Amino acid sequence: MELKKLTIAEFKKIASFVYEKTGIHLEESKLGLLSNRLRKRLRALKLDTFNDYFKLIQSKEGYEQELPHFLSAVTTNETYFFRNEKLWEYFSNDLIPNFIKMKGSGSKAVRIWSAASSTGAEAYTAAILLRELLPNFNSWNVRIIGTDISKNVLDAAKAGVYNTYALSKTSKERVERWFKPVGDDFELKDEIKKLVTFQFHNLRDKFPNGRFDLIFLRNVLMYFDNKMKKQAITVVSDALAQGGHLIIGDVDPIRTIPELNEHMKLDYIRPGTYFKPGVNSKESQAQKQLVTK
Ligand SMILES: C[S@@+](CC[C@H](N)C(=O)[O-])C[C@H]1O[C@@H](n2cnc3c(N)ncnc32)[C@H](O)[C@@H]1O
Repeated sequence: MELKKLTIAEFKKIASFVYEKTGIHLEESKLGLLSNRLRKRLRALKLDTFNDYFKLIQSKEGYEQELPHFLSAVTTNETYFFRNEKLWEYFSNDLIPNFIKMKGSGSKAVRIWSAASSTGAEAYTAAILLRELLPNFNSWNVRIIGTDISKNVLDAAKAGVYNTYALSKTSKERVERWFKPVGDDFELKDEIKKLVTFQFHNLRDKFPNGRFDLIFLRNVLMYFDNKMKKQAITVVSDALAQGGHLIIGDVDPIRTIPELNEHMKLDYIRPGTYFKPGVNSKESQAQKQLVTK
């Protein structure tokens, strides 16, 4: 039996389910795309109607199995190492020297969260740079967490094996230093892998173990409506330590949308970067100057 397009009513039912579970907002303009993608899923699952599919995803097990397919129908997991070169220059030239200056004589602990990490390239890029730039690296306590809503990408992140596309912006020297070839792909060396852990997290929920020095929240807000964007901003802002930085990325929707700009309680530093002031305002001003100079 040839399946037609989703009807508007079916689309709305699925879209509201996706929204409830993930915060991802599906515009009606996605109806054709979603129909095509779901048709493939129906064939793969040997289901006859969209309604059967809807029933399946409403069960706990069906939802867990289908979530990655849903997500790839409506978002992209696109990510690669050193995505947005300018940002990583800022990370290397300002943020890491800031860590060294502020923490070098204290706890020497650095906590980073890559929220919506996809397959882990962002978290591991941070790990590589910290490994290269922190002086006397073994005296530092570095903890990097990558989180995502999709189990498939988290499994790939844990495996740490990447194709040449994911490494297209990584220098040959770095690939040779930090990866080992596996067939046509490249696997991160344990020295870097062990710095990063991956776990499930939905950006609509509070993150339990907060107090991060740096949080990346890049290339995910665009899938959310303003309500969910605000929720995600609150979740990451709450998880930042005082004196910590939030990196939204170069496509920063916050400054251009008054409702979001008003909601953002962190200080703006530079395009896509925000700062959480400390209790001691003098100290936090010094930190802020250090990174903005
Ligand atoms: C385009 S990738 C971004 C990867 C990486 N941050 C980067 O910029 O390269 C978007 C990721 O957001 C994840 N995602 C979508 N909705 C989410 C949610 N509610 N909570 C956590 N992750 C979510 C998707 O599974 C996908 O892996």
